[in-house]
Formats: sequence, structure tokens, C-alpha cells
Amino acid sequence: MKAIQTNDLCYTYHDGTKALNSLNFSVEKGENMAILGPNGAGKSTLLHHFNGLLLPSSGKVVALEHEVTTSNLDWVRQKVGLVFQDPDDQLFARTVGEDVAFGPVNLGFPLEEVKARVKWALEATEITDLEHKSPQNLSTGQKKRAALAGVLAMKPEIIVLDEPMANLDPRTASKVLKLLLQLNKELGLTLIIATHDVDLVPLFADEICILSKGQIVTQGPPQEVFMKTDLLRSLDLRVPRITHLFEILNKKNQILTDKHFPLTIGEARKEIVELLEANNKQ
Ligand SMILES: Nc1ncnc2c1ncn2[C@@H]1O[C@H](COP(=O)(O)OP(=O)(O)OP(=O)(O)O)[C@@H](O)[C@H]1O
Ligand SMILES: [Mg+2]
Repeated sequence: MKAIQTNDLCYTYHDGTKALNSLNFSVEKGENMAILGPNGAGKSTLLHHFNGLLLPSSGKVVALEHEVTTSNLDWVRQKVGLVFQDPDDQLFARTVGEDVAFGPVNLGFPLEEVKARVKWALEATEITDLEHKSPQNLSTGQKKRAALAGVLAMKPEIIVLDEPMANLDPRTASKVLKLLLQLNKELGLTLIIATHDVDLVPLFADEICILSKGQIVTQGPPQEVFMKTDLLRSLDLRVPRITHLFEILNKKNQILTDKHFPLTIGEARKEIVELLEANNKQ
């Protein structure tokens, strides 16, 4: 089953900017998708269609086999949680706790359930101590965590995150990613993450979709997409740093001949150990 699908999706902003151009995107339920693309490619515009925040100028968006229209926005927002690129666009309540409770209260859950969800979401994002603080007075990274907590508390089936790791310290970024992957594994949650952090992508993505000028340039598993180095560079994108190191070792030192370069430190370590062991045997 597809979690989200778009058919010939076009979107033009009021000032005439054509941000999405006949875009056909799809992600399977339970899959983790990374969306990459240079600034202005249309990533945020596309993500805003997934929960009906924006509606197509033409074409359509289908979430869990239901076309997103003005008549099912409440249902869509319950199923598809969107964490904004800018947390100031998301946080509005008097306190962090009230902000996180807003979704579950609106869904009509009893008070005990609301409290339990808020507690869980604040703990998961490690901001329990900020519960009574005004969102306006948080640091940017804390705001990001609060915005994520608000979406987690809704327990959606699909979580769409726009640049979630930007402004998070490395430990928090790693914790948030671990939590999201755990939710994916245990609850079958679908993750769609737009990011510029290519080093992080192989750690979570089953698929990568690359956008440029409102269109999909390529889509496929990380191993495949990160082999298209010339295409990536022509779009001002890059491969993970560890992959780049192996590319250099291969090209300049002819050390490694394997066509699939490692994408993560773990894969690189395995490759290096195998190489050293083969060397020792000679
Ligand atoms: N509210 C708006 N009104 C008019 N044009 C807009 C608006 N928001 C975005 N755009 C334009 O739409 C295009 C796509 O923007 P979008 O924000 O989707 O890009 P992005 O891929 O998310 O970029 P970034 O990496 O900088 O976040 C850009 O040309 C941008 O200038
Ligand atoms: Mg954006």
C-alpha cells in the first residue's frame, strides 16, 4: 500500500512562482524516504501537500488511498503529521505542554489519554523540563524538539519532517533519529524527511528522492542514488563524506575497486577490515 502518492502534481504560488511541476511521487507504507534537493527545489512545497496544508493547483495527492481534499483535512492531519522547517510556524500555545496537548485534545481524547501522550512525547524529545515554558523563549533546537513532540503526541501513521536535524546538537539529532527509526520498526510508521544532511541519509533512508526545479530528477535506494555523483554535483548536492573518501581512494590511489562505495562509517569499517585482512594474507 502506498502511504503517499502524487499524480501530476503542480503548484503555483500567488506571485506566479511555479514551485511544483507535474510531479509524480510515491512512498510505500512503512518505508523511510529522504527528500534531497538544492534550496528552492520545492521540497517544503511538496511536503506541505502531504497533509493538505497546501492543495494542488492541478493534479492530485493521495494519502493512504484517500485523495486529499478540503472535505477530509481533519482525517488527513490525524494520519499525516508534519513537522515544519521553521518551528516558529508551528508553535503557538502559551506553554510547551499546551502546545503538545493541542493535537490530542482536538482529536477528542479523554484527559488521561491526553496527559499520557504529552508525557510520552515530552520524554521522547527530552524536553519534560520545558513543559511550562513559553515556546517563544526556547532556543531554536528546543523549539524543534517541541514541534516534533506536538506531532508525536498525535501518533500519526506518517510523519513528514522538513529539515528536522537542522539546529539540533549532534547527540539530540542522533536520539531523535533513533526514536523515529524505532517508531518505524515497532509501529510501521512511514517517515518522509527533507534534509540537506546527506551524511545522515544512509542511516535512515530506504529510498531517496531528488528534487530540482519542482520535478523529481531521480529516485531509488541510497546505494543507487549516491553512485550518480556527476548528477548530484550538477545539482549542487554531494555524496556522504565517507563515500567521497572512498571515491578518492578509488580514483587517485586505485586502492579499492568495488563499484559500491560505503555510505556509512559502519560499512566503511567493514570494507577496510576486509582489505587489511586480505593484505595480511598476502
Ligand atoms: N509563500 C511563497 N510565495 C511565493 N513563492 C514561494 C513561497 N514559498 C516558496 N516559494 C518559492 O517556491 C519555490 C520552492 O520553494 P521551497 O520552499 O519549496 O523550496 P525548498 O526545496 O524547500 O528549499 P530549501 O532547501 O531552501 O528549504 C522557490 O522558488 C521559492 O522561492
Ligand atoms: Mg524547504
